[in-house]
Parts: sequence; C-alpha cells; structure tokens
Amino acid sequence: MLRRLHNEQPESFAFTPANLAWAEAQITKYPVGRQASAVIPLLFRAQEQEGWLSKPAIEYVADMLGMPYMRVLEVATFYFMFQLAPVGSVAHIQICGTTSCMICGSEDLIKVCKEKIAAHPFEISADGKFSWEEVECLGACANAPMAQIGKDYYEDLTEESLARLIDEMAAGKAPRPGSQVGRFSSEPSSGLTSCIEVAGDKEAHNGSVGIAVSVGDVVKKIDGTEVPLKAPWQMGGQWGAIGIMGADRPKSAVQQAAAAKPAAPKAEKAAAPKAEKPAAPKAEKAAAPKAKAEAVAEAEGAKPKGLKAPRKAGADDLKVIEGVGPKLEEVLNSWGVYHYDQIAAWGADEVAYADANVPRFKGRCTRDKWVAQAKIIVEEGMDAFLERAKTNDY
Ligand code: FES
Repeated sequence: MLRRLHNEQPESFAFTPANLAWAEAQITKYPVGRQASAVIPLLFRAQEQEGWLSKPAIEYVADMLGMPYMRVLEVATFYFMFQLAPVGSVAHIQICGTTSCMICGSEDLIKVCKEKIAAHPFEISADGKFSWEEVECLGACANAPMAQIGKDYYEDLTEESLARLIDEMAAGKAPRPGSQVGRFSSEPSSGLTSCIEVAGDKEAHNGSVGIAVSVGDVVKKIDGTEVPLKAPWQMGGQWGAIGIMGADRPKSAVQQAAAAKPAAPKAEKAAAPKAEKPAAPKAEKAAAPKAKAEAVAEAEGAKPKGLKAPRKAGADDLKVIEGVGPKLEEVLNSWGVYHYDQIAAWGADEVAYADANVPRFKGRCTRDKWVAQAKIIVEEGMDAFLERAKTNDY
C-alpha cells in the first residue's frame, strides 16, 4: 500500500510541556548513542497529541533524536499504526483483511465499517468521529477476525460485536479490548487446557488488557489526565506495584554516567592553582567576576575555530556523523564548521563547547563520539567509515 504524507500539512508541531517531559524521559531508557531507539514511542506520542502524524511532527521528532528526516519518515511510512492523514477524532478502525481474518469474516467487518462509518477507507464519518481502513496481518490470527483500534486489539469479532463497539465508542465509552467472545488471549475457545489453576483470575491471562482497563487507557486519546505521564520506571505507584517497570529498575547508561560523573572536575582542577597564586593588589577588585567568567568559559570550553564559508568544493554533509541531524548541522554551520576535518581536529575544549551548546541535548558531541567519527572519515575514507558505522565501531 502506498503511504505518503498528506497533501495538507500544518505549519508547525511542538510537544506540549507534559508530552515533552514524557518524551525526554523515554529517551533516557536507551544507552548512550542509541537515542534514536526512542523514535517509535515519540512518533506515537506525537500522533496521540495531534490525532495523526504530520510532516512537521516527523521533523520535530527527528530533530529531538538527531536523526535525518528521511530515517524518521521511513519509520512513519512503514508502520500502519502511524496515520499520515487526519482520521476520526474518536477512533480509526483498522480491520485485518489477511487470510485467517478473511476466512473468519473480515469482509463482513468491512461491510459494517462502510455502513456505520464511511463508504471508503480513510474517509471520515459524517460526525467526524470515525474512519477505517483494511490492513495486513496484525499477528493475532488465532483470534481472527480482528481489528486494531488505537493502541488495542479487538478480537474474535462479529458484525454485531463490531457494530456494538463502534456505538459504545461513539457514546464516549471505552469498551474492553481483547477477545469479544470471552477469551483472554488465544487459548482454545472450548476453555483452558493449561494453567488452569489460575483460571479464576482472568486478568492474569492477559496483563495488557487488565492494565489498559484499570487505567481507563483504551481508546481514550492523550489529554494530560492519564497516569503515566512520566516514564514508568521513574514512578512508584501502580506501575511499580504491577511490576512492569518498578521505581527500582536499573538506571540507564545515561543516568548512570550522569550520577557517576564528578561535578565539574576541570573547573576544580583549574581553580586550585589559581587560588594559591597571590593576586596583584590592583587586580583584586576585578578578580571575582574575572574568576567567575573564567570558570564559565572553562566549563563550556572554547568555541571551535570556524571558517567564514565552506571551502570551494562545498560543505561536507555533516549529517553523515551519527547524532548530527539537520538542525545540528545548521548549528555547526553557524559556528563556521562545514567540514569533517574541522571536527576531527577538535580538542577537549571544542568538544566541551559543543557539548554545552548544542540545543536540547547537552553532551551529545561526547556521547555520539563526533570527533572519533570525523577522524575515521578523514583518515580512513567514507567507505571505511560507513562500514564501521554499521556496528558503531568508532
Ligand atoms: Fe488477521 Fe493475522 S490474518 S491477524
């Protein structure tokens, strides 16, 4: 299926402060240099905020993660869970039409969608609440026919049960996800044949349904009132209690590095000899602010020596360096940095400056090893670099 960006796009996108805090917390889940792994949760959050995924939202997420726009666009266009055009305000219903579901009646489900929602896929219903489409196998074949609605699967559907679900959602209710004939996962429809000692505790058979229902987080869109606004591992409460990701979860590499890092070692080291040196009487008055300015300058390093313009052959594509996206390339260019060899020549002071002055993610230059990457490009050539980049061998 052809999946393209919608022909009408909003001017801009930005996370709400709450969603931004959530997104930044998500990024800390991943080890140093692997922030791009947060791309799917961030895109999904952007979609939940706006209702669909616009080009500005895709670019916003790319900038947050230092990824080329094309890489994020690839993700957004690959997964059916991302909606690239406006959809119904309450729910977009994705009916699986692949073999198992088709044999078990998905065509009847599509008929219901055509009658109750709109005649064509992606057409929004007259009340603006619903839209639908047919998708490929969603991996719940044992519970066919099924549909994905928002974050959840509704399984073992019939014409009647799908029509009822749509009516309930239209009425503002959050119908229970999962099997609609009483199964709690994909156990035999005749009843459990194993784990029968916990048969009475049906939630135990489908934890995700149990949690979704308990927090009321089913088709409801993100509106700021939901529980897990922070990353779950940063919370106690029910998320800790249910043992998915408790507050005592091991800290990420970034968190560990931050905790272990001694406070401003460089500034301390430099401060000691300066303190011992007797100040000249005349300089005494100005000493305090001067020392403060020196400390700040030292903490932030030295701005890389820039060029007025790229060399004749043109600027290098700095986005080749992992961790440098289009926005960061603009920042580097604004410092007069256009070429790999300029970055390869950076010392500790330039790295400290870059770490302190790149927007949104301080420390990115060190974390993503920009200098080491640039040195490989300069010394070993682009082909060798791209080969090593496959395994992040910097
Ligand atoms: Fe429908 Fe696999 S065929 S979920």
